[in-house]
Amino acid sequence: MKKLIVAIDGPSGAGKSTVGKLLARELGYLYIDTGAMYRAIGLKAVREGLELKEGDALRALCARTEVRLVQDVVGLKVYLDNEDVSETIRTPDMGMAASAVSAQPCVRERLLQLQRRLGEGGGVVLEGRDIGTVVFPEAGVKFYLDANVEERARRRWMEFKEKGIETDLQKTIEEVSKRDYDDSHRDIAPLKKARDAVVVDSSGMGIKDVVTLMKTKVLEVAGN
Ligand code: DC
Repeated sequence: MKKLIVAIDGPSGAGKSTVGKLLARELGYLYIDTGAMYRAIGLKAVREGLELKEGDALRALCARTEVRLVQDVVGLKVYLDNEDVSETIRTPDMGMAASAVSAQPCVRERLLQLQRRLGEGGGVVLEGRDIGTVVFPEAGVKFYLDANVEERARRRWMEFKEKGIETDLQKTIEEVSKRDYDDSHRDIAPLKKARDAVVVDSSGMGIKDVVTLMKTKVLEVAGN
């Protein structure tokens, strides 16, 4: 059976990470969370007190920054210059910082190369905003995973709550809506559905059903 490149794009909170991880495990594929890479750059920029829209400063930062994704037994670890930042990047502020730096061409160029290198051999599930449109337009299967904004914000809010991060639901709805808008209106590689993507609306659907639906589609393509 062919080892495909599987692209999952969609707005924040649509369930891309949750189903991406499970789908990759079921297929025996590598899972690559590209948002984590933008979050790592955002974290470093915030720590250094950079203006997040400052292209030159971010270009210099990218040149002296290493971002690595490492698959270990407990899951995917994210390293920023050899520091494990897997948990540190999962806050509402880091989501907003990632979104801001991701609009800068120098940041996207740098991470695009890394993502292509990781995925080029196939047997990978990559999730993000521009995987099927820019990173791997030739991907074997493309999904656009969506859900209504209230449900996506509620899922994010639950995740934060479970981690002990205090935030209110209304604020999370506003942040998710702003991120949707910014990510889909930027000049470079905006979030949009690829023409040939399979749209999956996960509103009201259980995780297992979403994974089964996607796995069926991948196996169908891989078997032909
Ligand atoms: O998926 P996430 O919430 O971890 O992504 C954080 C931000 O990174 C998101 O708001 C936009 C940016 N991003 C991007 O521009 N392109 C990607 N392929 C992945 C994420």
